[in-house]
Amino acid sequence: MNSLKDMLESDERFTKNKVSDEELQAWREKVEREDQERVRQALIKNRSRIYKRDSVWGTSGEQTFTFQKWNPKVQPNQKLAHDIWKKSADITKRMFDSNFNVLFYGEAGTGKTAMVLAIIDALKQHSNKLSMFVSVMDLRELIMYDFNDTEAAIKIKNIERSMREVDVLILDDFGSEAGGMKNEGSATERLQQFWFRVAEARQVKDKDGNKRYSTIVTTNNDRGDLERMYNKKIVSRLITKKAENTVVFDGLDDVRE
Ligand SMILES: Nc1ncnc2c1ncn2[C@@H]1O[C@H](COP(=O)(O)OP(=O)(O)O)[C@@H](O)[C@H]1O
Ligand SMILES: [Mg+2]
Repeated sequence: MNSLKDMLESDERFTKNKVSDEELQAWREKVEREDQERVRQALIKNRSRIYKRDSVWGTSGEQTFTFQKWNPKVQPNQKLAHDIWKKSADITKRMFDSNFNVLFYGEAGTGKTAMVLAIIDALKQHSNKLSMFVSVMDLRELIMYDFNDTEAAIKIKNIERSMREVDVLILDDFGSEAGGMKNEGSATERLQQFWFRVAEARQVKDKDGNKRYSTIVTTNNDRGDLERMYNKKIVSRLITKKAENTVVFDGLDDVRE
């Protein structure tokens, strides 16, 4: 009485309706599939906890926004505000099942961060993609602060690992930390090396030549500025040149209260 079949056949609930080999096989496969799905879900949950831990929100803490909350009426140019919403939503839908870089470019207070938060929300609701938010300015503070502090060093290592491997990485206000990039010194060097490693990891492609990861950058600096602040290689790996993946917020007003 050691095989599963024997066990089932000795159970009186099954003796009347004997289980065929085919039925048993199908049942086994079903159980296996369900097990695999459970393991997959547990892994996703665990990874999503890690990306939450390693997100860098800064002093304002974790923020949320949704596509539903975007209100074109807060803008004098409502048509433009609507078009920006539409293009961002279309980009997000494409991101559900493909990977590419996205650029949100424009002045402060025009809604770039709000829109990027809406994308995080939509990915969470409608896809299996995991995302991670990094306020670039606050990341710089962490990296420049004190490298001899072991706890900080471990934190930064964790953040770097997550930034390299998360499905969708958000770099909010890229270029805002750049004042410090022009300075000489080991901290600046450390920051540049950090960006090099992250940019390198984010550009990886699979065997079919498709990008493995997506990176969404918000900035109010143009490409030339960013290339001077960081490095051409870093910029070309993180920032798209494709018009269809770029949303320009110019023409919108600063609506920050
Ligand atoms: N179209 C909009 N509808 C509703 N709230 C908006 C809109 N645009 C911006 N906001 C709000 O205005 C504030 C500034 O926007 P934010 O996304 O921080 O701008 P940016 O990142 O471009 O500097 C935020 O509180 C944001 O939620
Ligand atoms: Mg912002």
